[in-house]
Amino acid sequence: MQHLLSIKELTQSQLLAIIELAKKIKHNPAEYRRALDGKSVVMLFEKPSLRTRVSFDIGINKLGGHCLYLDQQNGALGQRETVADFATNISCWADAIVARTYSHTTIEQLALHGTVPVINALSDLYHPCQALADFLTLSEQFDDVSQAKLAYVGDGNNVTHSLIYGAAILGMTMTVICPEGAFPDALVVTEAQALAQKNGGKLTLSADINAIEGHDAVYTDTWISMGDDTPLADIKARFAPYQVNSELMAQAGAKFFMHCLPAHRGVEVTDEVMDGQGSLILHQAENRMHAQNAVLVTLLS
Ligand code: CP
Ligand code: NVA
Repeated sequence: MQHLLSIKELTQSQLLAIIELAKKIKHNPAEYRRALDGKSVVMLFEKPSLRTRVSFDIGINKLGGHCLYLDQQNGALGQRETVADFATNISCWADAIVARTYSHTTIEQLALHGTVPVINALSDLYHPCQALADFLTLSEQFDDVSQAKLAYVGDGNNVTHSLIYGAAILGMTMTVICPEGAFPDALVVTEAQALAQKNGGKLTLSADINAIEGHDAVYTDTWISMGDDTPLADIKARFAPYQVNSELMAQAGAKFFMHCLPAHRGVEVTDEVMDGQGSLILHQAENRMHAQNAVLVTLLS
C-alpha cells in the first residue's frame, strides 16, 4: 500500500488488516506512542473540516509525529504554482500528505508528482478515511462485519462511493436508496457490483424507499455536499421521502443509525434518530482517529 486515494485500491486482506490495526492502536495506545517518531505530515485542505482536521492532528500527535495544517489563504491549490510543483516541494520536507480537495484529480496529481504517501481526506468522488472508520465501527458491533446488512439512504455522493466499495470488498449486503437523479456514479456501481459478487456480497440500488426493509444499520449523509450550490428548498422537496426518522428505522428493522457528520438535523435525519439508542455517530467520529492512525502507521512505518 503506497497511498490511500480510494478504498477500491485495497484488497480484502489489506482492508481487514487496517481495521484490526486500528483496534490495536485504539486499545493499546501506549504501544504506538513513538510509531511516527520524527515523521512530519502536511495537511492540505481546500474545504472546511471539523472531524477530519482535528482527528488527524490529534491522532498524529498521539503517534509521536508532527503535523502542519495548510489552508487556502494563499489561493486555491494550483493557482500560485502547479499542483505538481506543490507536491514535489512538500515531498522535500514531509513524510506524508493528507489532502481534502474539490477535485479528485488534484489528489491523484499530488500522488503522481510527490514522492511521499498521499491520503485522501475527502474529494468530490471519495471519502475513504470516513468509510474505514465506519467499517471499524460496524466491526465493533458485529462478530463478522461481512454479515452486517447496511442500507444507505439519500444522496449518492463521495461518502456513498467509499462505503459501496468497502462493503463490496468485505462481502457485505448493501442497499443504496436514492431519489432519481441522485444515484451514485455508474462506474463506481458497476465496479463495486463485480467486487461484491467476487467476495460473496450483494449491492442493490433502488429509488423505492420500501427497499429499506431488512437491514441492520441505516446510514445517511447530507443532501447537499460541500461545493454544491443547489438551493435547499429544491433539494428538500425531492428528498423528503428519504428522511431518516423513527418510522423509517422501524420499517428497516434496523438497530443502528450512522452518519458521517456534519448533519443537518431535521433535514436528512431527525433529532430522535441522531440522539437515539442505536445511533453510532460518536463512535464513527471517534473511530476516524483510530482508523486514520492505522493508515498512517501502515504507510509510514
Ligand atoms: N465526516 C467528516 O469528514 O467531517 P468533517 O467534514 O468535519 O471533517
Ligand atoms: N458528502 C459530504 C461529506 C462531508 C463529510 C460532503 O462532501 O460535503
